[in-house]
This record gives sequence, C-alpha cells and structure tokens, in this order.
Amino acid sequence: MHPHGEKILLSEQEIKTRVAQLGRVISEDYKGKELLVIGILKGAIIFLTDLVRSINNPIYFDFMSVSSYGDSASTSGEVRILKDLDKSIEDRHVLIVEDIIDTGLTLDYLTHVLSSRGPASLKICTLLDKPSRRVTPVYVHYRGFSISNDFVVGYGLDYNERYRNLPYIMALRPKIYGGGS
Ligand code: IMP
Repeated sequence: MHPHGEKILLSEQEIKTRVAQLGRVISEDYKGKELLVIGILKGAIIFLTDLVRSINNPIYFDFMSVSSYGDSASTSGEVRILKDLDKSIEDRHVLIVEDIIDTGLTLDYLTHVLSSRGPASLKICTLLDKPSRRVTPVYVHYRGFSISNDFVVGYGLDYNERYRNLPYIMALRPKIYGGGS
C-alpha cells in the first residue's frame, strides 16, 4: 500500500468485480436504448472507462467539470460549473457517472441543472457513497459501495490532485489532510 494510506478499503479485484456487476445491471435496464454517459471530471474518469466496457448498449460520452471543494478535504457547499457539456441532452437517456457522493450537494445541483434540459431520462451511478455525510437527499440509482466517513483516494479519487492513479481505494492517513493525529 502507498505509505500515505491508513488502510486499503477496496482492492483492485473487489472494484473490478463490482464494476462488472454494475455494467451488467445497467445494460439490462437500458436494453434497446442508446445511453449518454456523463462523466464528472476528474474523479469519475477511471470508474467511467472501466464501467462502459462492461455495458453492451450503444454509448456516447460527454463530460462536465464542477468544483465544490477547491483544495481542501471538506466541502464549501458551493458548486460551480467549470466545464459544461459539449452537446444538448434533450431526449437522450442520460446516466451521470460520479466517483463519490458525500454531502450530495454536487449531485443535487447537477440533477437540477440537467433535468431542466429535457433529457428522456436521467439517472445517477456512483462508485462510492458516504450516506452518513449527506446534507441534501439524492436518489442514487446505481451504487458501487457504501463506505464510512474516511477520506478516500485512488481509482480516480484525489487529495490535492494526488493519488488518482492508485489501482485500489485507500483511506488517507488523517495527518496527510490535516484531519487529526
Ligand atoms: P458532495 O457534493 O459533498 O457530494 O461531494 C462530491 C465530491 O466531493 C466528489 O465528486 C469528490 O470530488 C469529493 N469528495 C468527497 N469525498 C471525498 C473523498 O473521500 N475523497 C476524495 N474526494 C471526495
């Protein structure tokens, strides 16, 4: 494990197995339909690229970048669009792919923005969920894993842009992000 890690939460193999399961369920749910997958940059990128290879349907990608955290490990509560979608989502079956839902503020904001643009359907798929931290309720259609309150990195998730390329997900040592001893 990386020396900044407290413990490995999800191994490479556990993630792989679960992502393949999610892909199968999504393929079945959208059978006969074209899917527009919207990846939320940058954290969801590794999850998205693995997930779409487990989905059989015709798929298009688009990406959005939002900021709610800046450089800190705690939320400011403010969501801003840094990069919007390239194309219209009107009458498309849209699946938002996110790395982690924490307070829910980011996805609450995104679902409001995107549902106002007239998609045929709009669902959320997140790899990780921290339900105990929720401030705003968010309906999650596809969830990889529910986790406890640790700050986690790896498999796309970062702290100050680091650790995204770790193939597993680990809890970061609190002293690295100033969260304790
Ligand atoms: P929310 O708006 O509080 O739900 O936060 C969602 C965003 O916060 C995610 O897309 C991540 O970028 C970031 N985030 C929340 N918890 C973690 C964590 O444990 N590790 C890394 N990023 C996190």
